[in-house]
Amino acid sequence: MTAIGASQAVVDVHYSIRGPLANRALELEQEGHEIIKLNIGNPGLFGFTAPAAVHDIIKQHLGESEAYCHQKGITEARAAIAAYQNKYSCTEIDEDDIFIGNGVSELILMALRALLNVGDEVLVPSPGYPLWTAAVYLSDGEAIHYPCRAENDYIPDPKEIESLITERTRAIVLINPNNPSGAVYPDDTLAEIAKIAEKHQLVAMSDEIYDQIVYDDAKHCALSGYITDTLCMTFSGLSKVHRACGYRVGWLCFSGKREQAQDYIDAIELLASLRLCSNVPGQWAVPTALEDNSIQELINPGGRLYESRRALLEAIEASPYLYGAAPNGALYAFIGVDTDLLPDFDDEQFGLDLLEKKHVLVAPGQGFNIAEKNFFRVTLLPNADDIREVFIRIDALLQEYAAAAQSA
Ligand SMILES: Cc1ncc(COP(=O)(O)O)c(C=O)c1O
Repeated sequence: MTAIGASQAVVDVHYSIRGPLANRALELEQEGHEIIKLNIGNPGLFGFTAPAAVHDIIKQHLGESEAYCHQKGITEARAAIAAYQNKYSCTEIDEDDIFIGNGVSELILMALRALLNVGDEVLVPSPGYPLWTAAVYLSDGEAIHYPCRAENDYIPDPKEIESLITERTRAIVLINPNNPSGAVYPDDTLAEIAKIAEKHQLVAMSDEIYDQIVYDDAKHCALSGYITDTLCMTFSGLSKVHRACGYRVGWLCFSGKREQAQDYIDAIELLASLRLCSNVPGQWAVPTALEDNSIQELINPGGRLYESRRALLEAIEASPYLYGAAPNGALYAFIGVDTDLLPDFDDEQFGLDLLEKKHVLVAPGQGFNIAEKNFFRVTLLPNADDIREVFIRIDALLQEYAAAAQSA
């Protein structure tokens, strides 16, 4: 019998957050073990709920949700998104500039598929949410990773980004606030990156799905506020700020110089038409969700996310083995392990040992497209007590590694 293989495009693609480690965690759970999972940013799994008004509005509109809607989404939702974006970043866009998708994930795939020819290059952050790199490869492109280093608080250097531009570069991707690092980019960095995108006529793609999740004095600024002279695409949705990832509602806003991009925008509309439309019931929630401010209660002192982040920062500070810039936004921390103390540390082996021996699931750093093997990502979604417990177990494992290295 001839084996049925996968296409080369897919063989080269990775999404380790839901990979073999997560499958092993499921097996251990089925065997009766309790696993603390910090590998995935799924608020609903940790007891977070969408605002009640969001539930209610979907129920009210269920009867109007049975037909396919327009390929770009329902007008009520698109108008609310355009109004939100204009207020948030001083753009002047309207509902025609908006596409709604089954989560930002679907729109990322469509945005890159519609743009790239074989060998076209896209600048993507490292570390970064792996779907962006995967989507470039699935679209026949080449992902060129620009570094966001721990020692620079995971903020990229615009000059370094510019040095990576070639005649094949078509787009630059920003993830701000960043997954996995939690970095929130300062406005001067955004302004410089915007200028580079304009100078080289790159499409600026800004993933701002965590826009309102910022801590302490951090302030999120939208890239679209800085761009007039090239095409800008802002991605956001209901999954994180509004704690409703299961509704699968994301959006893409076009701003900046749209006149010369009509063929590209038409290509995205064609792809949107081929999949008919995005899930309709969840779209009715958008106007209500965008008026809701309840995320503030979670990110301010006393709020669950704030307190979990504090517990995490205290644990890193107390650990002799761990370091990493404090996340100023989003739902994660990207943590480094000191290789002076543990020179043979390997993030993937650590992920496996932590799961098997300590029943904690984290995401190894290499899954976020970095070359180093001494990082891992955790989410801030568990409550503060669970975070404290997790770091006791992490330190115990690292202590075991150190003892084994000494006796070797
Ligand atoms: C940076 C980033 N972009 C996009 C997504 C996917 O979002 P959605 O649920 O809207 O598909 C995620 C999910 O974790 C993410 O972290």
